[in-house]
Amino acid sequence: MSSKIILTGDRPTGRLHIGHYVGSLRNRVAIQNAGDYAKMFVFIADAQALTDNFDNPEKVRQNIIEVALDYLSVGLDPDKVTLFIQSQIPELTELTFYYMNLVTVARLQRNPTVKTEIQMRGFSAEGEEQAFGSGLPVGFFCYPISQAADITAFKATDVPVGEDQKPMIEQSVEIVRAFNRIYGETLVEPKAVLPSNEACLRLPGIDGKAKMSKSLGNCIYLSETAEEMHKKVMSMYTDPLHINLSDPGHIEGNTVFTYLDAFCRDEHFGLFWPEYANLDELKDHYRKGGLGDVKCKKFLEKILNAELEPVRARRKEFEKDIPAVYDILKKGSLAAEEVAAKTLDDVKKAMKIDYFNDADLIREQAARFNM
Ligand code: TRP
Repeated sequence: MSSKIILTGDRPTGRLHIGHYVGSLRNRVAIQNAGDYAKMFVFIADAQALTDNFDNPEKVRQNIIEVALDYLSVGLDPDKVTLFIQSQIPELTELTFYYMNLVTVARLQRNPTVKTEIQMRGFSAEGEEQAFGSGLPVGFFCYPISQAADITAFKATDVPVGEDQKPMIEQSVEIVRAFNRIYGETLVEPKAVLPSNEACLRLPGIDGKAKMSKSLGNCIYLSETAEEMHKKVMSMYTDPLHINLSDPGHIEGNTVFTYLDAFCRDEHFGLFWPEYANLDELKDHYRKGGLGDVKCKKFLEKILNAELEPVRARRKEFEKDIPAVYDILKKGSLAAEEVAAKTLDDVKKAMKIDYFNDADLIREQAARFNM
């Protein structure tokens, strides 16, 4: 049996969309079903979400169930994967506190993900005396350390994430190395598992802009209906220079083709568009001219529906018994805590703060004072 331990999670700040799906969720389900692992954990990172939503706990609370339903509906199976909620594992905060000694402020400031997020949120590192609205909260600044705790508490070896999370894994590896060097071999180095396909790394929004994001309103959600999705696909950004049908078309930056790169497989042509054998043939025709955007959008819509129909159907089933979903998360959280507690024991032993479990220490001290 494989000794791999797979772990990953998502912040519950909104429903998950097809960018999450191709970037990581689809990969997780494939890993789950291939079964080449010792243990697999997927969790809802509510404590991390609170680092920049501390003033909006209701948002986090509402989205726990949304993300849990998204997980279950894409096919994560609670019999195979431990699904849990981060805040319910107090050992993670304790580990975070000890890891804080191993990271410098300068190193956190260099973390590219933290850097962009600080800019996006308008936090200012200088704004010491300012109210929270503009100052940089310490909790937010330290979330990469907390993420290292999430990963190492479960001795994760493989972390399937989107590309933006790579710096977090690098930071975790550094913490593991520092810990093991100072306190002795205790923690396990993780590695990021990224999708191999370029289009999946960073799926743009339907408007062709950067990444899908809730605030830009350019997402296709896993939980939306076929009708809602139809409108979005038909409104997708394509090639502004492709005005007349006969004009040559451009593939680069054409969102419909980026999505096809992420979702389309050869078999989809047999099923939905037998005039072409594969995506390369379709692209060639588009480039030459004479192929309309609407036809391509309809093809994409069929592919998306083929992929999302089973997801929507599973979601409907799980929605019928919401208490059962909370129960899955509760059971998973209890099981996860057992694992994290074991790691925390190892950590405290390595750090020599396991006083009451160390009979030798007590005997030695007794001897020292009673020579
Ligand atoms: N930072 C991740 C996100 O924004 C969520 C997360 C928290 C995570 N802890 C993790 C992902 C540990 C992988 C491993 O979605």
